[in-house]
Amino acid sequence: MDKSKILLVNFDKLVQKSLYELLCRYGYAVDSANSTEEALSLLSETSFHVVLADINGSQDTVVVKKLKEKTNGAEVVVLASYGSLEAGVASMKIGAFDYLVRPVKDDKILSTIEQALTNTGAEDNKVTEKNKDVWTSKFFNKGNTHYGLIGNAKEVQEIYTIIERIANTKATILIQGESGTGKRVLAHAIHKNDSKRRHKPFIEVSCGALPREIIESELFGHVKGAFTGAINDRKGRFELANGGTILLDDIDTLPMELQVKLLRVLQQKEFERVGDHKTMKVDVRIIATTNQDIQKLVTEKKFREDLFYRINIISIVMQPLRERKEDLPLLADHFVELYARENHKNIKGVAKEVMETLMRYNWPGNIRELENVIERAVILDINNVINNDDLPEVITNHNAISISETSGNITEKFNNHLKEALEEPERVHILRVLKEVGWNKKEAAKKLGVNRTTLYNKLRKYNVLSQVEAK
Ligand SMILES: Nc1ncnc2c1ncn2[C@@H]1O[C@H](COP(=O)(O)OP(=O)(O)OP(=O)(O)O)[C@@H](O)[C@H]1O
Ligand SMILES: [Mg+2]
Repeated sequence: MDKSKILLVNFDKLVQKSLYELLCRYGYAVDSANSTEEALSLLSETSFHVVLADINGSQDTVVVKKLKEKTNGAEVVVLASYGSLEAGVASMKIGAFDYLVRPVKDDKILSTIEQALTNTGAEDNKVTEKNKDVWTSKFFNKGNTHYGLIGNAKEVQEIYTIIERIANTKATILIQGESGTGKRVLAHAIHKNDSKRRHKPFIEVSCGALPREIIESELFGHVKGAFTGAINDRKGRFELANGGTILLDDIDTLPMELQVKLLRVLQQKEFERVGDHKTMKVDVRIIATTNQDIQKLVTEKKFREDLFYRINIISIVMQPLRERKEDLPLLADHFVELYARENHKNIKGVAKEVMETLMRYNWPGNIRELENVIERAVILDINNVINNDDLPEVITNHNAISISETSGNITEKFNNHLKEALEEPERVHILRVLKEVGWNKKEAAKKLGVNRTTLYNKLRKYNVLSQVEAK
């Protein structure tokens, strides 16, 4: 089977090299051009399936336009920096398939390329199943994972049962949980556990990241001439997901007018491309995620109630890591193994005191934060065992009192009473002030505008008095 061909355009040397290695590893044939002219000449000689271009400066869209004219059916994916985000959006208007904003993870690049390939009709040529396994090995490499979900906590066991039950149904699913708790991983696991859908596309839509003006055409597609810049017919993500699963990430960020349209897709499984009268029907499992208290948004009229009831058929809540710490050692070991392999290191594991440090920390960024901390530690490690000095200061310094910088964010919490929700920011604030004054309680009390007894009582209440005293 022929490999899919990818052309890299205008990347600086280092990035080009790492992209080259990444894409080759996943079974693509890769070529690169250091200038737009070189790219155009390569495109006139050979055909490619996907062109991945770095854009910079004001000529951005001109480059994309030129490439698009020459690509002969290939999709153009653009890599933009935060500064050139607008150029990324503009590129899509003139026909680019998608744009990625730096910093971008390997997984994201690979999944975007895969989606682009689906769009070009080059599916048969894309990554072979064998290579695909390499890519997904991050999620499927162990007997103790359920399609990438690691965990033994009671709540996670319940989720496994739900996954089995809903596997071959069409049910729409709502996954709630704080950022980094594994909502995407769960959605993917649901898709992969569905014997009918697992071989069909899993299409992700970050509702919050798509610019308002193109989101409708992104979701439902458009026909040529539907708006300035619609130079070709284009499939939307619902069509791309046909037969498979669509993941609507951060559904709470969907504008009201699109909520109405989505409701119709949910009810009738049909929609029209922008600028078209023809009604399309699709067979798609919809999974939506949110890290907000969506029921509250409904009460505040920021999210349509009818849509909420439609997506909330089966609702799964992902626990924050701090509430399922029994799974932390398992997750930590998993990430050590994963990143040791990826970085060609022979790391045996984490030292006992490190596990204790990790267990005491509050993990406001949940499993994603743990993963990042371990990845960094694996890279920094020099003696093949992860020690406390391989951990970031925020964890070693703060962990004794499990202070976390962001856990004061009330909206991250679910089902909390007002009083409970306010306790966390109070605790964080007190600890921050104490740290500022070098753990001097008298001064801290003064700064906080409370008397010392009150401060002591609070420290006792939050169970941190002895640790503060020890500072
Ligand atoms: N149960 C799990 N087992 C293994 N890895 C996990 C698990 N949960 C999350 N991860 C890892 O943690 C990271 C964050 O997970 P994911 O992207 O699914 O979170 P999320 O809830 O969708 O976050 P956000 O709301 O910020 O999008 C990923 O890199 C994922 O691989
Ligand atoms: Mg997510």
